[in-house]
Amino acid sequence: MPLVTTGELVRAARAAGHGVAAFNVITLEHAEAIAAGAEAAGLPALLQVSENAVKFHGGRLGPLAAAMAAVARSSRAPLALHLDHVEDGELLRAAHPAGFGSVMFDASKLPYAENVKATAEAVRWGHERGIWVEAELGRVGGKDGEPPLDAHAPGVRTDPAEAAAYVADTGVDALAVAVGSTHAMTERTAALDQALIGRLREAVPVPLVLHGSSGVPDGEIRRAVAAGMVKINVGTALNTAFTGAVRGYLTDRPAAVDPRKYLAPARDAMARTVAHFLGLVAAPATS
Ligand code: G3H
Ligand code: ZN
Repeated sequence: MPLVTTGELVRAARAAGHGVAAFNVITLEHAEAIAAGAEAAGLPALLQVSENAVKFHGGRLGPLAAAMAAVARSSRAPLALHLDHVEDGELLRAAHPAGFGSVMFDASKLPYAENVKATAEAVRWGHERGIWVEAELGRVGGKDGEPPLDAHAPGVRTDPAEAAAYVADTGVDALAVAVGSTHAMTERTAALDQALIGRLREAVPVPLVLHGSSGVPDGEIRRAVAAGMVKINVGTALNTAFTGAVRGYLTDRPAAVDPRKYLAPARDAMARTVAHFLGLVAAPATS
């Protein structure tokens, strides 16, 4: 199937009143698992790679991007490629030649005015090249290398009026908002501020993005989609599934050496996780 774009998938999900899930890719097996999970669910998905994952690959975006595109093109499910949490201008500019139709430009650590200026510039750059641009207002803490933030601390949650002004001033295509989730949670115990999601949806004309969805329970994700979240980002849940399967295999067979033996169940476990999240976002809560 030909590659589709994030913009198309997000628009279609929003029009249908449901969400679309975006999964973080670290290795080839992650990309294969996302394709397999999407095929099993019969639903579209996004494959996204973060700046931190690019650093893991020695700062080289090209090899993983080429593998992701090849996996997506050979899939029976509609899949799009997204470059996630980009802070570095050089990596941002590499998105287009590497085949990404969308980026999340992350200036969320900057003070408001500097975030607006840097993001507006990234949006101008992206739109000149047909790239869909997501940005973040408020802080979803807990990213690799960062201390966890208290999601309830003042200034961490996204303010609806500020969000509306930010979208108008930057021209972003989608907005990542801070509503109670935290990156890299391995337990699904986060409580979202569903009322704030509703207020943000009323105030902001572009689709809303939930980061740190691995730590959010099923029911909270369903309610968040019903309240107005469209793009649901999932990373750690795949790694939890992957590592659990590898650990189980090697604990039972300490003499094993062939990586295919433990990567196969790890990939299957990730594919099941992908299919589960896709089913959740495609069936938002009705009450
Ligand atoms: O941008 C990626 C996501 O926000 C993933 O967060 O690893 O906590 O699911 P997570
Ligand atoms: Zn994120």
